[in-house]
Amino acid sequence: MFSFVFLVTIFGFTSAVKDSVVGPSYVAAVYEHNIILNPDPGVPLSRADALRHMNLNLDIYERQAAKASQQGAQILVFPENGLQGFNFSRLSVAGYLEPTPDPQREKWNPCTEPGKYNNTEVLNRLSCMARRYNLYLVANVADLQPCPLPTDPSAVCPTDLRWQFNTNVVFSSEGLLVARYHKYNLYYEDYFDTPPQPEIITFDTPFAGRFGLLICFDLLFYNPTVALVEKGVRQLIFPTAWMNQLPLLDSIQYQRAFSLGANVTLLASNIRHDKLIMTGSGIYTPFSATYHHAKEGEPEKDELLVARVPVLDPLWVEKSITKEEEVQVDNSRSSTPEEFGYCHKKNSPDPPSETAGSVYSSADTFISTMMYDPFTFALLNDTEGNLKVCNGSFCCYLQYRQPPQESSKELFALGVFSGMHRVNGLYALQICALVRCGGLDPFSCGQQVDESESKLDFVLEAKFGTKYVYPSVLASNMVLEQPKNFERTACGRVTLKHYNMTAGLVTACLYGRMYHLDKK
Ligand SMILES: *[C@@H]1O[C@H](CO)[C@@H](O)[C@H](O)[C@H]1NC(C)=O
Ligand SMILES: *[C@@H]1O[C@H](CO)[C@@H](O)[C@H](O)[C@H]1NC(C)=O
Ligand SMILES: *[C@@H]1O[C@H](CO)[C@@H](O)[C@H](O)[C@H]1NC(C)=O
Ligand SMILES: *[C@@H]1O[C@H](CO)[C@@H](O)[C@H](O)[C@H]1NC(C)=O
Ligand SMILES: *[C@@H]1O[C@H](CO)[C@@H](O)[C@H](O)[C@H]1NC(C)=O
Ligand SMILES: *[C@@H]1O[C@H](CO)[C@@H](O)[C@H](O)[C@H]1NC(C)=O
Repeated sequence: MFSFVFLVTIFGFTSAVKDSVVGPSYVAAVYEHNIILNPDPGVPLSRADALRHMNLNLDIYERQAAKASQQGAQILVFPENGLQGFNFSRLSVAGYLEPTPDPQREKWNPCTEPGKYNNTEVLNRLSCMARRYNLYLVANVADLQPCPLPTDPSAVCPTDLRWQFNTNVVFSSEGLLVARYHKYNLYYEDYFDTPPQPEIITFDTPFAGRFGLLICFDLLFYNPTVALVEKGVRQLIFPTAWMNQLPLLDSIQYQRAFSLGANVTLLASNIRHDKLIMTGSGIYTPFSATYHHAKEGEPEKDELLVARVPVLDPLWVEKSITKEEEVQVDNSRSSTPEEFGYCHKKNSPDPPSETAGSVYSSADTFISTMMYDPFTFALLNDTEGNLKVCNGSFCCYLQYRQPPQESSKELFALGVFSGMHRVNGLYALQICALVRCGGLDPFSCGQQVDESESKLDFVLEAKFGTKYVYPSVLASNMVLEQPKNFERTACGRVTLKHYNMTAGLVTACLYGRMYHLDKK
């Protein structure tokens, strides 16, 4: 087995926190936490025992905050569930809950006012950590709120008349609680409640302007994630406890894809826990990625990532320029539709212009399951060629070529799916993906693979029924490659071009989300 940590930087910026970023920038840190779990999460325990457990994880957080601070971090992100763990019942999680007041309604610095609320030892400790190490700190906690809910008194109460939320909290470098976000898209955690309304929560920092908050499964849905982006928030914070699934939804693969597709910065902090297949964290901008993904067989350990990245908040950047130049600027941060591409023409031709004139063969397709969905596949049966596969009217086009010096017997297939995904969540998709198959049998196409020796040059294209398309190129051994070109040319038409790979291709994907077809 490999015993190798993949800590890779692509496209210029380095993880060594060099000042190589042009223009306003800041230093961000994300921490992948090898969590200490409660061995019996289903058994209720006293507050004192719950605190004893969480303090073990907080001791580790403390050391990481010190390390991050030494490396100049101005903001540090901890993962989802990083203090209490998972798999509780509604009763057994009770000892872990802390009442977290709404920072939009009151100012509270738990470190300097520890007596204001009972049972807030964890919030106190996190707040003091932010203060001591002089950084903005984002952590995920379990919030207890009374019913009726102070912020939404008319919401129908849970049957036990209390609200329990999976919650992000943010402390300023003074220790002030500046933001609180309740997870909207829960994932097998029925001991938490879905908030009555999606919460669109942001906070402002002096070093980089505005950030928005989301948690784990939220990344796949319109609310709050895309709603934040469409309000002009271009820096997102993403604590997660993500269970990896190749070939399309490994943690770092979708983190990279979202950051590129939405043209935003994503600060992603995952848990490290091999039994639950959790690893994969990173600091992603549209121009760079500093990430970590553990390999099978590697010792289970922590990873702190620190990187200098450009400020993307348009308002903050304008302000920092006007300070020097005193020019009039339009003070709006609001909707920036170009983040997802304009739709200029109603009826753009199909196949896409990039490859118009080429002849695409589409013989010999077959259905094989990938990520629980029935994909229509066609095999790449030559060293170069053009392929087309369709699912109904949604078609996926591929031009490919294996560089001459490369020769391997690995099987690749072009897959297409348009429809509702129904396993572990309900969401509407249009996907065009080039994958390495699990073996040499066509029905192994769609299986999980993480290694490949075949470097391919390719152009992958499709005309999507949505502007929300997230691109990714995953190479052998969990290496992310920056696509050479990703373009939305007109009205849903998307092109992903890549060549000169540094390692064999595992998956190249255009992941289209038809948010408008999701069931409300
Ligand atoms: C916790 O729950 C997840 C999701 O339901 C399940 O896959 C996993 O096996 C459980 N883990 C433990 C440690 O019980
Ligand atoms: C905290 O709990 C103690 C003991 O139950 C109680 O006397 C006190 O009023 C509580 N303080 C607050 C701020 O709720
Ligand atoms: C992405 O954002 C950058 C500025 O941060 C901008 O220059 C660029 O045009 C944007 N790209 C797209 C495709 O909107
Ligand atoms: C590949 O498949 C296409 C379509 O079925 C066929 O026309 C072509 O001859 C095949 N090429 C090879 C090298 O088998
Ligand atoms: C897409 O493919 C699936 C699986 O073969 C099929 O059930 C579905 O009808 C197809 N969709 C369209 C619109 O043809
Ligand atoms: C790949 O890189 C080599 C040099 O490193 C260059 O000569 C070649 O043109 C590149 N391939 C493509 C498709 O651009």
